[in-house]
Formats: sequence, C-alpha cells, structure tokens
Amino acid sequence: MILKLMKQAVPIAVVETTKADPRIKLIAAKIKKENYKPEALIEILHTAQNAYGYLPIPVLSYITKSLKLPPARVFAAVTFYHFFSLKSKGEHTCLVCTGTACYVKGANAILKELEKEFGIKAGQVTADEKLGIQVARCVGACGLAPVVVVDDEVEAKVSADHIVQEIRAKILEHEPT
Ligand code: FES
Repeated sequence: MILKLMKQAVPIAVVETTKADPRIKLIAAKIKKENYKPEALIEILHTAQNAYGYLPIPVLSYITKSLKLPPARVFAAVTFYHFFSLKSKGEHTCLVCTGTACYVKGANAILKELEKEFGIKAGQVTADEKLGIQVARCVGACGLAPVVVVDDEVEAKVSADHIVQEIRAKILEHEPT
C-alpha cells in the first residue's frame, strides 16, 4: 500500500502543495548538494526525518523520484533502519525546531514549557495519544525563528503560550461532543 502511494505521488505536486512549507526546500537543497546521487539516500532521508519528525509519503515519493530510485529500494531503506518512521507520533504533532537560529531565539525555553504543560518529553506521546512532541534540527525557516510546526503548519516567531493555546484548541476541536 505504501509503495503504491509512493509511486502515485508526483514530485512537482508535492512542491506545489507544500510551497509554504520550507522543509521541502530544505530537502530539495540537500538533494542538489548531494548531486542527485542515489548513494546519498540515507543522508537525505535523515534530513527529511529531522525536518518532519517522520517521513511523510509524499516527501518519500519526492525523494524517490528526485534520485531516480525504485520506490521499493527507498521503502526497504526506511523500514530497515530503526531511526526512520513512516508515521507521526500522536494524533497531533508539535515539532519544535532547536536548530541554531531557533535556539538563539529561545527554542529550548519553548520546548521546556511545552513539555511541562503536556507532561511529556520530546520524542514522547501523551497517554491518550492526542499529542506527540518532537524536535527538529532545522526546518529551513531560520529567518522566522523561533519556529514550531503544529500539524504541518509552520508557525513563525512563536511564543510558548501561543503554541500551548493552539494545541489545546486543536485537541478540543477533535474531541467528540
Ligand atoms: S534553525 Fe530553526 S528553522 Fe533553521
């Protein structure tokens, strides 16, 4: 099923639908830097995993096609290495960028506040599986630091309070009434 999805997605569509998401540009830059070499697959997957917290199928498809690799080879690499994950952790995800630019602008304090507020550490999911908190090394939007990505929405120049409120609202929004 995953292989089928990877074959279906078209790279340009990924780029267009994620125009506002700097992470795809980060991956495109990495692929270019590696000269589109298939041998750089693992490194490129690491870049993607670090930026997204997991490997979304359209992104895998984009990498597959950019490197002109058979989807089965990419899928085999992703499933072989324990580090890679095909699924985001939790119903909602909060990815705190702790790269240099974000660190300088207080990313660690934001992360600590979120961990305290939701009672989990980065890399963990709440007991009800509603929220997973993860960290990224850089999501490619350093000029907007500090950056937090909530459910694939890149939030710029954030404060911990704002993110906490947003996550609470998202969780409530999806609660059965
Ligand atoms: S360091 Fe956070 S976006 Fe680059």
